[in-house]
Amino acid sequence: MDRKYSAEFRPLLTDRALQVLFSNRIEFATKPAPSLYPHQWNWDSAFIAMGLAHVDQPGARRELKSLFRGQWRTGMIPHILFDPEASKYFPGSDFWNCRCCPDAVTSVETSGITQPPILAWAAHQIYSVSDKSMAALEFLDSIFDYLSHYQQFFRQYRTVGDDGLVCIIHPWESGLDNSPCWDPVLENIESAAELEYKRSDTRLVSDQERPTDRDHSRYAGLVELFRNNGYDQRAILKTSPFVVQPALFNTLLCIDLDALIRIGSLLGRPTAESQEWRSQLKNSLNDKLWDETAGFYGDFDLVNQCLIRQNTIAGYLPLAGEIPDEQRARRMITTIIDASTFWPADGYPVTTVAMTAPEFDPVKYWRGPVWININWLLIRGLRAYGHNDSARELTDRTVDLIENHGFYEYFNPFSGQGCGTDLFSWTAALLIDLLAEVERR
Ligand code: GLC
Repeated sequence: MDRKYSAEFRPLLTDRALQVLFSNRIEFATKPAPSLYPHQWNWDSAFIAMGLAHVDQPGARRELKSLFRGQWRTGMIPHILFDPEASKYFPGSDFWNCRCCPDAVTSVETSGITQPPILAWAAHQIYSVSDKSMAALEFLDSIFDYLSHYQQFFRQYRTVGDDGLVCIIHPWESGLDNSPCWDPVLENIESAAELEYKRSDTRLVSDQERPTDRDHSRYAGLVELFRNNGYDQRAILKTSPFVVQPALFNTLLCIDLDALIRIGSLLGRPTAESQEWRSQLKNSLNDKLWDETAGFYGDFDLVNQCLIRQNTIAGYLPLAGEIPDEQRARRMITTIIDASTFWPADGYPVTTVAMTAPEFDPVKYWRGPVWININWLLIRGLRAYGHNDSARELTDRTVDLIENHGFYEYFNPFSGQGCGTDLFSWTAALLIDLLAEVERR
């Protein structure tokens, strides 16, 4: 057996990961990284809780619960809950000014958009690896309504028409902020405000690895538009130039619905509506977002009424939610493991953008580098379709990558060199989960 998986070595690696998480703790939660991301982020906390659950159940529960402090009256859980102790971040709470919206929470400052919904999934994972005691069930019971309200937010405010697919209104909601998938939509935003502002990210990380100023000004311009609309969801959907139904976001929602259904059955709560919605979503992903010519799933641009077809790994991640049938899955997996697309033979799989795509850049944020949460999702997808050898290889190379190059935010797929920030929380948390999975097998 590989040294890193030996009984002496595995706990050492888990311990190093835990130290990263502990060093990023703030009062209620864990920040994603020491300086670059000094607040609490929505889906980061979910990933963190999923890793912590193996070694620190109370910590995992606290991590998840602390997000509900930020839930708006609409059910939305914002993508950032600001830590009042940390001020050097742009765009901060003043820029968002969510107080102008009567639906916003008032006890904590937050952003006015959300992120991929994976909180019920995290809650279910916390339970699955627990001792399944009464206390573990009580934890689920205490958060069920918040989780359900969050999913209902998407149903009520983010579905357009009757296909059940939900839309996002900002690239930051996708979690894949700088993905080339958003380029064709951003290009049409001619009137992005020329704002006087100071980016905080490029003071901390090389600008080679970050989005361009032009794109950043468009991101900020969209926030300005939301603010001018008082964060009224319906008004925003009518006026925003960025309204997209992404394949990955909807896949994650499917997984999250599935988790809530499981939690509901443990607690004896009704889940018929969630079951119906989940199967509608699965059908719509396959009918509306599958691109037969390209062989992967696209994202639907509702403003321009067209499918966005950038060859990024996100288009293949419906595998993680068992969305495609066997035939489509086989076709996608053949593409992914090809050394000329996403799986460099001498480097580290998988790239976030196909190496053959013109937008591919090995060090730029979401435009090529390896991200640990993406590998983690893909491992789940490969396993779901019985591709256990590829799943194992991807696990091994992901563990190697972190062991050899550190707990970075993202990595150059050829050299393994870390990019973005070091000491990144979800890299640490998902490593703990991968090592626990290795122990089980
Ligand atoms: C970056 C990522 C986003 C993440 C955030 C905090 O913006 O794109 O997905 O939530 O950092 O880690």
